[in-house]
Amino acid sequence: MSTQDDEKRIAAHAAAEVVEDGMTVGLGTGSTVAHLLDALAERSLDIRCVSTSVQTEETARRLGIRTESFDVVDRFDVAIDGADQVSPDFWLVKGGGAAHTREKVVASSADRFVVIVDGSKLVERITAPIPIELLQYGFASTVRRLTAHLDGPVVRRDVPVSPDGGVIVDFTGAVADPADLAAAISATPGVVEHGLFGPELVSAVVVASGTEVRWLDATA
Ligand code: 5RP
Repeated sequence: MSTQDDEKRIAAHAAAEVVEDGMTVGLGTGSTVAHLLDALAERSLDIRCVSTSVQTEETARRLGIRTESFDVVDRFDVAIDGADQVSPDFWLVKGGGAAHTREKVVASSADRFVVIVDGSKLVERITAPIPIELLQYGFASTVRRLTAHLDGPVVRRDVPVSPDGGVIVDFTGAVADPADLAAAISATPGVVEHGLFGPELVSAVVVASGTEVRWLDATA
């Protein structure tokens, strides 16, 4: 029987096949992306990559994958990343690894954003927790205003600040509509970025269930 980690590996290796020599590639963060890095390293491709976290950067370098600063790359042929939740209409929740701000910038800069998940990540509807990165400046005030505006709890996560100095919190209240919630969070001064990724960002979701791999086209 396949484990969740087997499914992550299978989805990651399937998605790695879209990467070709000469491409610029955005690399996400997390345990599924760790399998992607293995798959890319095995193929010894001539590619230029940008990492979304220190963790991905270190693993990529150790595996011999060429990574560059995002200062010298302004677009990607493809970005590949994991997710915490994928809804039937291709809303994502990301940020379980607190890297959603950089991940969203990279996904938005890619011609194709391919999401790699094990079967447990497919959900009927998006639910909390929804990760949010806040400016340190005025943090307590932003939490108070967010809690009032979203009409639900906003809880600081016990993790270090992000590489960009942001504080990570989670909205743990009810999610009636992801689009409305995303708009309400974004409209709150002090918010850097939230982990709701809209369907317009997503090109495809590669999901492994057992040993079966499915490509879900998010652009159809
Ligand atoms: C990190 C993320 C990850 O992609 C997400 O948490 C999934 O992680 P994993 O592949 O370990 O299940 O959004 O910020």
